[in-house]
Amino acid sequence: MNTQDCYAKAERILSEMSLEEKVAQMLQLSEKADTKELFDKFKADGTLGSYLHVLGEETGDFLENAYQSKLKVPPIFGIDAIHGHALLKSATIFPSQLAMACSWDTDMVEKVGKVTADEVAADGLNWVFSPVLCIGRDLRWGRIDETFGEDAELISRLGAAIIRGYQKNGKVAACAKHYLGYGEATGGRDSYDTEITERKAREIFLRPFKAAVDEGCMTFMTAYGSIDGESLTVSHRYLTEILKEELGFDGFVVTDWENFISMVRGQHLFESMDDACVEGIVAGNDMSMNSPDFYAALVNAAREGRISMDIIDNAVRRILRVKARLGLLDGKRENPLSRDIIGCDEHQQVNYEMSVKSTVLLKNNGALPLTDAKKIAVLGPNATDVRAQYGDWTYFSHPNSKPHETAKDCTYTVLKGISEAYSDSEIIYAQGCSVLGDEDAQTSERWMNEALDAAAGADACVVVIGDVLKQNGEKRDRANLVISGRQIELVKRVKELGKTVIVVLINGKPLELGELEPYADAIVEAFNSGDMGGLAIANLIKGKENFSGRLPISFPYSSAALPCYYNQYDYWHGSKYVDVPKGSPYPFGFGLSYSNFVYGEPALKETVLKRGEKTELSVEITNDSANCGIETVQLYFRDKICKMLTPVRTLIDFKQVTIPAGESSTVTFTVDTERLGYYDRDCKYCVDAGEFALFISGDGKNFKEITLRVAE
Ligand code: BGC
Repeated sequence: MNTQDCYAKAERILSEMSLEEKVAQMLQLSEKADTKELFDKFKADGTLGSYLHVLGEETGDFLENAYQSKLKVPPIFGIDAIHGHALLKSATIFPSQLAMACSWDTDMVEKVGKVTADEVAADGLNWVFSPVLCIGRDLRWGRIDETFGEDAELISRLGAAIIRGYQKNGKVAACAKHYLGYGEATGGRDSYDTEITERKAREIFLRPFKAAVDEGCMTFMTAYGSIDGESLTVSHRYLTEILKEELGFDGFVVTDWENFISMVRGQHLFESMDDACVEGIVAGNDMSMNSPDFYAALVNAAREGRISMDIIDNAVRRILRVKARLGLLDGKRENPLSRDIIGCDEHQQVNYEMSVKSTVLLKNNGALPLTDAKKIAVLGPNATDVRAQYGDWTYFSHPNSKPHETAKDCTYTVLKGISEAYSDSEIIYAQGCSVLGDEDAQTSERWMNEALDAAAGADACVVVIGDVLKQNGEKRDRANLVISGRQIELVKRVKELGKTVIVVLINGKPLELGELEPYADAIVEAFNSGDMGGLAIANLIKGKENFSGRLPISFPYSSAALPCYYNQYDYWHGSKYVDVPKGSPYPFGFGLSYSNFVYGEPALKETVLKRGEKTELSVEITNDSANCGIETVQLYFRDKICKMLTPVRTLIDFKQVTIPAGESSTVTFTVDTERLGYYDRDCKYCVDAGEFALFISGDGKNFKEITLRVAE
């Protein structure tokens, strides 16, 4: 249906609605929350706007009742399908967003979005609360695993790609979240105040959200936090003036979980729910996630004239338009996609490819590829821990109240992957230790000795360590980013046996690796790698696949030296802490492979341009190795002299190229002077005349520089 028809349909329904029906459209409820009475009322009368965390066949009754109601407007079913439809046991569970971001591969990420949306639609649902477009710059924050990393350009491109994928089948709406600044909360604290200014918001934090609007993302979610003391939930500036009016967002905004209640209970902004709800809607929220008191509060406020009907109508109009675009206003239930596609082989193949590309080789002293070994010891607590491998937002961490599906048995842990990839070798496994070190002393000693015995007889040891769910996620911020428990000791003692030690990290966020490094011949970073992670890791270790992952986020030397993201300002007074090295041991953009890419000097077609003009920058890259590989070519810039401080480098573009062994390829970027700007103190975007440094890099550590002049 075209936009005009959708709008007309929404308008007709809106004109037939009572106040109560309108406000019901603006509410989303979950059965899990403390809302039983209201939940049952709406389930029976079929007028509620939305439900969340309802799965599969459970949608049937809700729909039946909605189609029998006066308006025949079904609810929109929202689900946290943030790396696959992972709250459903049988669905394809992809690597986490952070892991996927290591691919820097927009086509793959779009495919993941499409597969996820197809499985969500096959399960009868129509709204994914994804992608997370928060910028992951404070590694202490518990939700780093949910981000696409630390850089606005990379996040914008991957965000737009996954939204494209989600919305491709026309049956599912994406949700850009959490708007705005959530990840930047002071101290990395979940749901707290951030001190970003509007200038900085425009320069960095708004960019991925603008990309989401431009991609046609149908919904946005309001963050829990506040900016400089103003709760986002009542920020007319950010929700209405910037998002809806300036960026032109035409979908609807849903709050995060109980934002209205938080304004009363946690943020001390309102005495009553009535005021919180009215102010929240006036500011620009269109739907309340949970906060059951919202219904009565808004109905009463409207009756008493404390909120205008125009504001309510505008919110409902936005919701109905999205429903119309998803084909939900046709008065009858559409046949969902066949459930057979959920977790099917074809989808798992996409998942496998995504996992291969999501894995980053951080260190290799020649131990990899491990082409053959008669006996391999697979050690470490995360070699068999499916929960740790999945990470957050699966049926483990957010269980559905009615788990009617059995978990699939195709999930590859690293142990299973190594066993399959090295089917001719003898594989022995021992846990060695726990991640948290919370076992009793006797068990701890036994585990360690079993692992050392296993290692003693092996030709090579793959030690799989990292973190577990208790150390990641919402409300689980972490002050010390160390490798916990006896995990480093395990690696060290195995190395002391004189063994080749390949460390595989399965973890939700960058950790301090300095203490581990001397004992690891190779380090493979997999983050939370989903169903196929173990097979992808094993085939990469074996050399059946080549590594191509690049870090979307910088690793810290020390938790005390945060932040460590790459695009900071110069540090012109002392330039570093006296006790910690500067920068990052494994920075944004870094990653090794079995290929060796040698860069020529970059060349500009024109070296002087006027504002508004574009030119081409080319660089020749040679694969000086015996292995075909994928290189991620990164283009950064810096305004050499600028009225405002500028980061040492800012990524403006990247391209991937596959180069066969021994061959060369020329990669060409379009350099648009419009991209070389900054926001001045009045929040105005400016591109100054003068010299700009352009940097080309394949690893975030080594740069080839060339100067472009922008004339007056
Ligand atoms: C999270 C959101 C999520 C919502 C619904 C909130 O706690 O912040 O990201 O979509 O819950 O589960």
